[in-house]
Amino acid sequence: MTSKNEAWWKEAIVYQLYPRSFKDSNGDGIGDLKGVTEKISYLQNLGINAIWMNPICESPNDDNGYDISNYKGIMKEMGTMQDFDEMMLALRKANINLVMDLVLNHSSDEHEWFKQAKSSRTNKYRNYYHWWPAEKGTPPKRFSLFDENSNAWQFDITTNSYYLHYFGKKQPDLNWENPELRKEFYDIMKFWLNKGVAGFRLDAYPFMAKDTSWPVMPTSFTNGDFIKYYGSNSNLHQYLNEMNKEVLKDFPNCYLVGEGGVVDFNEIINFVHKDRNELSSSYHSDHVDSWGRNKDDNSKYDGSNKDLISLKNIFNKWDTLMKNDGWNTAYFTNHDHSRAVSRFGNDETYRVESAKMLMTCLLTQRATPYIYNGDEIGMTNIRFNSINDYNDLATKNWYNQLLAVDKTKAEAYIQSQKELSRDNSRTPMQWNTQLNAGFTNGKPWLKINNNYTSINTEGDIKNNHSIFNFTRELIQLRNSIKDVLVYGDFQMIEENNKDVFAYIRSTNSKKMLVLLNFKKELVDCSFIKKFKLNKVIVNNYNNTFDSKKLQPYQSLIIELAY
Ligand code: GLC
Ligand code: CA
Repeated sequence: MTSKNEAWWKEAIVYQLYPRSFKDSNGDGIGDLKGVTEKISYLQNLGINAIWMNPICESPNDDNGYDISNYKGIMKEMGTMQDFDEMMLALRKANINLVMDLVLNHSSDEHEWFKQAKSSRTNKYRNYYHWWPAEKGTPPKRFSLFDENSNAWQFDITTNSYYLHYFGKKQPDLNWENPELRKEFYDIMKFWLNKGVAGFRLDAYPFMAKDTSWPVMPTSFTNGDFIKYYGSNSNLHQYLNEMNKEVLKDFPNCYLVGEGGVVDFNEIINFVHKDRNELSSSYHSDHVDSWGRNKDDNSKYDGSNKDLISLKNIFNKWDTLMKNDGWNTAYFTNHDHSRAVSRFGNDETYRVESAKMLMTCLLTQRATPYIYNGDEIGMTNIRFNSINDYNDLATKNWYNQLLAVDKTKAEAYIQSQKELSRDNSRTPMQWNTQLNAGFTNGKPWLKINNNYTSINTEGDIKNNHSIFNFTRELIQLRNSIKDVLVYGDFQMIEENNKDVFAYIRSTNSKKMLVLLNFKKELVDCSFIKKFKLNKVIVNNYNNTFDSKKLQPYQSLIIELAY
């Protein structure tokens, strides 16, 4: 089918692969690169053509690889560089591009740079990090994002100074104002590109550029204000621009997608505009930061705020922003947010229907879709009961801080974490009904969801009506009519309908109506009588189609007469 001769990443269907939880090949209970290589035919069968893999570089794993101690080495739990090269070879044969995670705001405190930097104030690596000498008094207040009340400045006795860490204590922030540091990163990027990597997901990139005059923060923030004190300084454009000049000149097809939740919405286009040579695309979190959370305190989950009109507006506003000069991304789950079907769908009576509905939504956006591993079989939140089951340092830190001051608050926090914790999406992949869901022969690093006996890839592949096979067909459909489903116009209809997300994807000669019922009830869809329906192309209810009512979580793609 025809498509414009566009960048590969616009047409890509990305599979986000959390390697720690994907497949363990050596029985240590941790997923690894050989495990990925073993499962490439599974990914080929699903039909995806790119992978975003969470960090695999050397790391003490305080934040599961987001604390890197050597950017050019492979984490020992993941295997060896030879395993990496073998994986790359197999991916290339399968025509699957690899997008790596590039953690550039901070390193591990076990990185050689940091070890050197903290050894003396005159060390040549000192300026790779942000320091505050103790004789200047207490550093300006900055919170660590991983502990509710804690200080992002950590005192270090050796040089009588504080270092900055926006995330965990073992994740000191790097100083991008230092050109030497920037050169190191361009070199790291080229190292991986030369190994055949196709792009990078820039982890927490807005934090790279800080206002190092360290202005005094207000005691509370109004929307969007927060980032002024933490990042998104105007230097950010300069760094990304330079990165393009230094790295992309030799690798023009390299995809750079920025994790940009905290950039002001009105600013985003200046990072992704096609003429600016900064990012290829941006990845926001508006929908996952709001849906189901408490309106006044979004760290709390109370199941409220599932307002479909707001959700539709988020999709629509990002589509509109990107349609002429940028390119959008779409997802429902990632390693920082809980499972799509548990949050946006219904993981009880309508697990299969709602998971398929969400896939229909994802794969019909004008955006690069990201399918998170396990969502293709409708994996659900594990909802741990006890703090002892958790692995994530963010959950553990917040809990301990709250516990120290107020036990009731700590308990309420754990209740919310059942729905929101990052560990919900990090539980191991459920491959089959055998020991440990076929993920490992050893003891899994994180508990496996008990429902693996009924939710697993083996069962899904065999079942013609499974979420897996539905996803596979949607992928084929998207690839076969790229002009409509990738590039075609996106027009939301029924903006004020609180039950149905409805839109039309179209070209000059084709029109597809997408109908998504986000409710567990039958809902009215008589509004479709104003269209001339040609043919139902996709239906998650097999043959059930009533032009007046949609079944619970029903999703349809209908070709319209032109
Ligand atoms: C990003 C990652 C998250 C990580 C954090 C610190 O938000 O997605 O998993 O903990 O950055 O690197
Ligand atoms: Ca392993």
